[in-house]
Amino acid sequence: MKKKIKKKNNRIAIITGSSGLIGNFASQLFLNQNFIVYGLDVKEKKIKSNKFKFKKIDISNFDKTKNFISSLYKKHQQIDLVINNAAVSFKSSYLKRTPKELKDTININLLGVINIINSIAKNHNKKNVCKIINIGSIYGIRSPDFNIYDNINKTNSEIYGASKSGVIQLTKYYATALAKNNIIVNCISPGGLKDIKNQSKKFINSYSKKVPLKRMTELEDLKMAFLYFADKRTLYTTGQNLIIDGGFTIC
Ligand SMILES: NC(=O)c1ccc[n+]([C@@H]2O[C@H](COP(=O)([O-])OP(=O)(O)OC[C@H]3O[C@@H](n4cnc5c(N)ncnc54)[C@H](O)[C@@H]3O)[C@@H](O)[C@H]2O)c1
Repeated sequence: MKKKIKKKNNRIAIITGSSGLIGNFASQLFLNQNFIVYGLDVKEKKIKSNKFKFKKIDISNFDKTKNFISSLYKKHQQIDLVINNAAVSFKSSYLKRTPKELKDTININLLGVINIINSIAKNHNKKNVCKIINIGSIYGIRSPDFNIYDNINKTNSEIYGASKSGVIQLTKYYATALAKNNIIVNCISPGGLKDIKNQSKKFINSYSKKVPLKRMTELEDLKMAFLYFADKRTLYTTGQNLIIDGGFTIC
Protein backbone atom coordinates (compact mmCIF):
# COMPACT_ATOMS: atom_id res chain seq x y z
CA MET A 1 0.00 0.00 0.00
CA LYS A 2 1.24 3.48 -0.85
CA LYS A 3 2.23 5.49 2.21
CA LYS A 4 0.25 8.74 2.44
CA ILE A 5 2.60 11.72 2.60
CA LYS A 6 1.38 14.21 5.21
CA LYS A 7 1.47 17.76 3.91
CA LYS A 8 3.73 19.84 6.11
CA ASN A 9 1.73 22.74 7.47
CA ASN A 10 3.47 26.05 7.85
CA ARG A 11 2.72 27.95 11.01
CA ILE A 12 1.30 31.44 10.49
CA ALA A 13 2.74 34.59 12.08
CA ILE A 14 1.71 38.23 12.11
CA ILE A 15 4.50 40.71 12.83
CA THR A 16 3.67 44.39 13.09
CA GLY A 17 6.33 46.97 12.29
CA SER A 18 8.02 44.32 10.12
CA SER A 19 10.03 46.91 8.17
CA GLY A 20 11.84 48.28 11.22
CA LEU A 21 14.97 47.09 13.00
CA ILE A 22 13.45 44.48 15.32
CA GLY A 23 10.46 43.65 13.06
CA ASN A 24 12.73 42.82 10.13
CA PHE A 25 14.96 40.70 12.37
CA ALA A 26 11.93 38.81 13.78
CA SER A 27 10.48 38.33 10.27
CA GLN A 28 13.70 36.73 9.02
CA LEU A 29 13.98 34.64 12.18
CA PHE A 30 10.50 33.14 11.84
CA LEU A 31 10.76 32.67 8.06
CA ASN A 32 13.79 30.53 8.88
CA GLN A 33 11.61 28.60 11.33
CA ASN A 34 9.27 27.77 8.44
CA PHE A 35 6.50 30.21 9.33
CA ILE A 36 4.46 32.09 6.76
CA VAL A 37 4.98 35.66 7.98
CA TYR A 38 2.46 38.45 7.42
CA GLY A 39 4.37 41.69 7.92
CA LEU A 40 2.20 44.70 8.72
CA ASP A 41 3.75 48.12 8.38
CA VAL A 42 3.08 51.59 7.00
CA LYS A 43 6.23 51.43 4.88
CA GLU A 44 7.46 48.47 2.91
CA LYS A 45 10.82 46.76 3.30
CA LYS A 46 11.17 43.93 0.82
CA ILE A 47 12.06 40.53 2.19
CA LYS A 48 13.00 37.95 -0.41
CA SER A 49 10.91 34.94 0.50
CA ASN A 50 7.70 33.59 -0.96
CA LYS A 51 6.62 32.89 2.62
CA PHE A 52 6.74 36.60 3.48
CA LYS A 53 3.53 38.53 2.75
CA PHE A 54 3.64 42.27 3.21
CA LYS A 55 0.49 44.22 4.03
CA LYS A 56 0.64 48.00 4.11
CA ILE A 57 -1.53 48.84 7.07
CA ASP A 58 -1.63 51.47 9.78
CA ILE A 59 -2.37 49.51 12.94
CA SER A 60 -3.96 52.58 14.50
CA ASN A 61 -6.72 52.20 11.90
CA PHE A 62 -8.91 49.89 13.94
CA ASP A 63 -11.36 48.74 11.28
CA LYS A 64 -8.76 48.04 8.60
CA THR A 65 -6.56 46.10 11.03
CA LYS A 66 -9.48 44.13 12.48
CA ASN A 67 -10.82 43.28 9.01
CA PHE A 68 -7.40 42.19 7.81
CA ILE A 69 -6.98 39.84 10.77
CA SER A 70 -10.46 38.36 10.17
CA SER A 71 -9.55 37.81 6.51
CA LEU A 72 -6.42 35.89 7.59
CA TYR A 73 -8.54 33.60 9.76
CA LYS A 74 -10.83 32.94 6.79
CA LYS A 75 -7.80 31.98 4.73
CA HIS A 76 -5.74 30.00 7.25
CA GLN A 77 -8.23 29.18 10.09
CA GLN A 78 -5.42 29.66 12.56
CA ILE A 79 -2.81 32.24 13.56
CA ASP A 80 0.01 30.67 15.58
CA LEU A 81 2.09 33.70 16.48
CA VAL A 82 1.53 37.44 16.78
CA ILE A 83 4.36 39.88 17.48
CA ASN A 84 3.08 43.31 18.48
CA ASN A 85 6.19 45.25 17.63
CA ALA A 86 5.15 48.41 15.68
CA ALA A 87 5.66 51.58 17.65
CA VAL A 88 6.56 55.23 17.26
CA SER A 89 8.69 57.42 19.43
CA PHE A 90 9.11 61.18 19.25
CA LYS A 91 12.43 62.48 20.44
CA SER A 92 11.58 66.14 20.96
CA SER A 93 11.30 67.70 24.41
CA TYR A 94 8.09 67.12 26.36
CA LEU A 95 7.72 70.91 26.45
CA LYS A 96 7.27 70.86 22.67
CA ARG A 97 4.96 67.84 22.57
CA THR A 98 2.05 68.25 20.16
CA PRO A 99 -1.43 66.75 20.61
CA LYS A 100 -0.86 64.72 17.41
CA GLU A 101 2.35 63.17 18.78
CA LEU A 102 0.55 62.25 22.00
CA LYS A 103 -2.38 60.70 20.14
CA ASP A 104 -0.20 58.84 17.63
CA THR A 105 1.92 57.32 20.38
CA ILE A 106 -1.09 56.06 22.32
CA ASN A 107 -3.02 54.97 19.22
CA ILE A 108 -0.14 53.02 17.68
CA ASN A 109 1.90 51.78 20.67
CA LEU A 110 -1.00 50.95 22.97
CA LEU A 111 -4.46 50.96 21.38
CA GLY A 112 -3.13 49.23 18.24
CA VAL A 113 -1.97 46.35 20.45
CA ILE A 114 -5.39 46.12 22.14
CA ASN A 115 -7.14 46.12 18.78
CA ILE A 116 -4.94 43.34 17.42
CA ILE A 117 -5.24 41.14 20.50
CA ASN A 118 -9.03 41.64 20.64
CA SER A 119 -9.28 40.70 16.95
CA ILE A 120 -7.24 37.54 17.57
CA ALA A 121 -9.36 36.64 20.61
CA LYS A 122 -12.61 37.00 18.63
CA ASN A 123 -11.48 34.69 15.84
CA HIS A 124 -9.30 32.18 17.66
CA ASN A 125 -10.35 28.57 17.99
CA LYS A 126 -9.28 27.38 21.43
CA LYS A 127 -8.47 23.91 20.13
CA ASN A 128 -5.22 25.51 18.92
CA VAL A 129 -2.63 27.49 20.79
CA CYS A 130 -1.77 31.05 19.78
CA LYS A 131 1.36 32.74 21.08
CA ILE A 132 1.39 36.52 21.41
CA ILE A 133 4.63 38.41 22.03
CA ASN A 134 4.34 42.10 22.85
CA ILE A 135 7.37 44.34 22.61
CA GLY A 136 7.80 46.56 25.65
CA SER A 137 10.90 48.54 26.56
CA ILE A 138 13.20 49.27 29.48
CA TYR A 139 11.62 52.73 29.36
CA GLY A 140 8.29 51.17 30.27
CA ILE A 141 9.95 50.15 33.54
CA ARG A 142 12.24 53.04 34.39
CA SER A 143 12.89 56.61 33.35
CA PRO A 144 15.69 57.47 30.94
CA ASP A 145 18.77 58.85 32.70
CA PHE A 146 18.93 62.22 30.99
CA ASN A 147 22.66 62.53 31.78
CA ILE A 148 23.61 59.92 29.17
CA TYR A 149 21.87 61.65 26.27
CA ASP A 150 23.90 64.11 24.21
CA ASN A 151 21.00 66.47 24.09
CA ILE A 152 18.31 66.52 26.73
CA ASN A 153 15.76 67.43 24.08
CA LYS A 154 16.52 64.26 22.15
CA THR A 155 15.82 61.64 24.76
CA ASN A 156 12.98 59.14 24.91
CA SER A 157 9.66 60.84 25.37
CA GLU A 158 7.41 60.82 28.43
CA ILE A 159 4.53 59.42 26.39
CA TYR A 160 6.65 56.63 24.86
CA GLY A 161 7.57 55.31 28.32
CA ALA A 162 3.95 55.56 29.45
CA SER A 163 2.78 53.64 26.37
CA LYS A 164 5.37 50.89 26.97
CA SER A 165 4.36 50.61 30.66
CA GLY A 166 0.87 50.09 29.32
CA VAL A 167 2.04 47.32 26.99
CA ILE A 168 3.65 45.47 29.92
CA GLN A 169 0.42 45.76 31.93
CA LEU A 170 -1.71 44.68 28.93
CA THR A 171 0.45 41.56 28.69
CA LYS A 172 -0.62 40.55 32.21
CA TYR A 173 -4.26 41.44 31.61
CA TYR A 174 -4.58 39.46 28.38
CA ALA A 175 -2.52 36.52 29.70
CA THR A 176 -5.15 36.18 32.44
CA ALA A 177 -8.22 36.89 30.32
CA LEU A 178 -7.20 34.69 27.39
CA ALA A 179 -5.77 31.70 29.26
CA LYS A 180 -9.11 29.90 28.83
CA ASN A 181 -8.93 30.55 25.06
CA ASN A 182 -5.53 28.83 24.79
CA ILE A 183 -3.82 32.12 23.99
CA ILE A 184 -0.48 32.70 25.70
CA VAL A 185 0.74 36.27 26.01
CA ASN A 186 4.23 37.41 26.96
CA CYS A 187 6.37 40.51 26.54
CA ILE A 188 9.99 41.14 25.62
CA SER A 189 11.49 44.42 26.84
CA PRO A 190 14.76 45.15 25.07
CA GLY A 191 17.38 47.56 26.29
CA GLY A 192 18.59 50.33 23.98
CA LEU A 193 19.67 48.79 20.68
CA LYS A 194 23.05 49.79 19.31
CA ASP A 195 22.44 51.75 16.14
CA ILE A 196 25.70 53.26 14.91
CA LYS A 197 23.97 55.09 12.07
CA ASN A 198 21.86 57.17 14.44
CA GLN A 199 23.76 57.22 17.72
CA SER A 200 26.90 59.16 18.58
CA LYS A 201 29.98 57.37 19.94
CA LYS A 202 29.63 59.47 23.07
CA PHE A 203 26.08 58.25 23.65
CA ILE A 204 27.01 54.60 23.00
CA ASN A 205 29.86 54.89 25.52
CA SER A 206 27.83 56.64 28.20
CA TYR A 207 24.98 54.15 27.83
CA SER A 208 27.33 51.14 27.84
CA LYS A 209 29.02 52.33 31.05
CA LYS A 210 25.67 52.10 32.83
CA VAL A 211 25.14 48.47 31.76
CA PRO A 212 26.59 45.76 34.05
CA LEU A 213 27.43 43.72 30.90
CA LYS A 214 29.04 46.86 29.43
CA ARG A 215 27.40 47.14 26.03
CA MET A 216 24.17 48.13 24.29
CA THR A 217 21.62 45.53 23.16
CA GLU A 218 22.18 43.71 19.84
CA LEU A 219 19.41 42.13 17.75
CA GLU A 220 20.96 38.69 18.31
CA ASP A 221 20.39 39.12 22.06
CA LEU A 222 16.64 38.92 21.40
CA LYS A 223 16.70 35.76 19.29
CA MET A 224 16.37 33.05 21.96
CA ALA A 225 13.64 34.97 23.77
CA PHE A 226 11.60 35.14 20.55
CA LEU A 227 12.13 31.43 19.94
CA TYR A 228 11.24 30.47 23.51
CA PHE A 229 8.01 32.46 23.65
CA ALA A 230 6.94 31.38 20.13
CA ASP A 231 7.62 27.68 20.59
CA LYS A 232 4.57 25.37 20.64
CA ARG A 233 6.14 23.38 23.49
CA THR A 234 6.47 26.29 25.94
CA LEU A 235 2.95 26.24 27.31
CA TYR A 236 3.39 27.20 30.95
CA THR A 237 4.85 30.72 30.79
CA THR A 238 2.33 33.50 30.37
CA GLY A 239 1.98 37.15 31.37
CA GLN A 240 5.74 37.57 31.75
CA ASN A 241 7.95 40.46 30.75
CA LEU A 242 11.45 39.30 29.85
CA ILE A 243 13.89 42.20 30.10
CA ILE A 244 16.90 41.80 27.81
CA ASP A 245 19.15 44.69 28.69
CA GLY A 246 22.50 43.40 29.99
CA GLY A 247 21.34 44.32 33.49
CA PHE A 248 20.63 48.01 32.73
CA THR A 249 17.43 48.06 34.79
CA ILE A 250 18.76 46.23 37.86
CA CYS A 251 20.91 49.02 39.23
N1 LIG B 1 15.34 50.24 19.14
C1 LIG B 1 15.41 50.17 20.48
O1 LIG B 1 16.40 50.56 21.09
C2 LIG B 1 14.26 49.62 21.26
C3 LIG B 1 14.44 49.38 22.63
C4 LIG B 1 13.38 48.89 23.36
C5 LIG B 1 12.18 48.63 22.74
N2 LIG B 1 12.02 48.87 21.41
C6 LIG B 1 10.73 48.58 20.82
O2 LIG B 1 10.92 47.62 19.80
C7 LIG B 1 9.94 47.81 18.78
C8 LIG B 1 10.62 47.98 17.43
O3 LIG B 1 11.54 49.04 17.52
P1 LIG B 1 12.56 49.36 16.36
O4 LIG B 1 13.77 49.92 16.99
O5 LIG B 1 12.68 48.19 15.46
O6 LIG B 1 11.79 50.56 15.68
P2 LIG B 1 11.71 50.96 14.14
O7 LIG B 1 11.31 52.38 14.12
O8 LIG B 1 12.94 50.52 13.42
O9 LIG B 1 10.50 50.05 13.63
C9 LIG B 1 9.16 50.32 13.93
C10 LIG B 1 8.35 49.98 12.72
O10 LIG B 1 6.96 50.22 13.03
C11 LIG B 1 6.38 50.79 11.87
N3 LIG B 1 5.18 51.56 12.22
C12 LIG B 1 5.12 52.79 12.77
N4 LIG B 1 3.85 53.18 12.88
C13 LIG B 1 3.09 52.18 12.39
C14 LIG B 1 1.70 52.01 12.22
N5 LIG B 1 0.85 52.96 12.57
N6 LIG B 1 1.25 50.85 11.68
C15 LIG B 1 2.13 49.88 11.29
N7 LIG B 1 3.46 50.00 11.42
C16 LIG B 1 3.94 51.14 11.96
C17 LIG B 1 7.46 51.70 11.30
O11 LIG B 1 7.19 52.01 9.93
C18 LIG B 1 8.69 50.84 11.50
O12 LIG B 1 8.97 50.04 10.37
C19 LIG B 1 9.11 49.01 19.20
O13 LIG B 1 7.97 48.55 19.87
C20 LIG B 1 10.03 49.74 20.16
O14 LIG B 1 9.31 50.50 21.07
C21 LIG B 1 13.03 49.35 20.65
